[in-house]
Amino acid sequence: MIIDQVNRDRIPRHVAVIMDGNGRWAELHGNDRIYGHRQGVDAVRSIVEGAGEIGIEYLTLYAFSTENWNRPKEEVDALMSLLVDAIVQEIDNLNEKNVRMRVVGNIFCFPDQVQVKLSEAIESTSANTGLNLVLALSYSGRWEILEAVRKIVRDAQEGVISEEDINDKTFVNYLSSFEIPDPELLIRTSGEFRISNFLLWQIAYSEFYFTPILWPDFRKENLYEAIVDFQGRERRFGKTSEQIRS
Ligand code: FPP
Repeated sequence: MIIDQVNRDRIPRHVAVIMDGNGRWAELHGNDRIYGHRQGVDAVRSIVEGAGEIGIEYLTLYAFSTENWNRPKEEVDALMSLLVDAIVQEIDNLNEKNVRMRVVGNIFCFPDQVQVKLSEAIESTSANTGLNLVLALSYSGRWEILEAVRKIVRDAQEGVISEEDINDKTFVNYLSSFEIPDPELLIRTSGEFRISNFLLWQIAYSEFYFTPILWPDFRKENLYEAIVDFQGRERRFGKTSEQIRS
């Protein structure tokens, strides 16, 4: 079994996923896009479970991008209710599995009812110490970086931070993901080779894994395949192989 090939001593702390291909999956199955998103929830359930089982600390899922607001209203509304329903339905399961839910993104853009449900889920799971499930919602990397710049300018004007204090360590404190380590592994499904404005700052040294599997078909075994592939790579961070091995 693929899980037996996973090296438990080298589990990435943080895996980020661009869940793509729900629309194409639905089309292949002769159904509407919303059906594809609904099936995508099963894939989410499977990898949340799988990530917890092998001791991943952070799993970030790109569930709704800033650009997704431009989709037809009907699809946006369906995604909102799907999200709320999934969260409400899964909350006991998340608590049972010791999963802590967090959100990165501009959730103030969401309808009040969605914000309330998200806050309830964050609050209800806040004492859990297992997997951190980070949902990127109304999120984009550029939005996050610009927000950080705005906050830094404000702090600089108030004398809280000076120009010399701005470096890559202090900058991360201004990002909406500030308590979360950078992902070592970024997975994108559906055969697309793009980053689509996801975690632009945080992926500076991430390993990328692309798979043709459409998101609704993705399961924890596919996550383990990605991790085995990741574990076979040498991460050099700009150094030479000799420096890494010595
Ligand atoms: C991309 O497929 C997928 C999304 C924009 C939404 C992802 C949402 C879910 C899987 C459901 C809810 C999530 C949680 C966390 C409960 P696409 O529509 O871009 O597919 P396409 O490229 O084939 O059109």
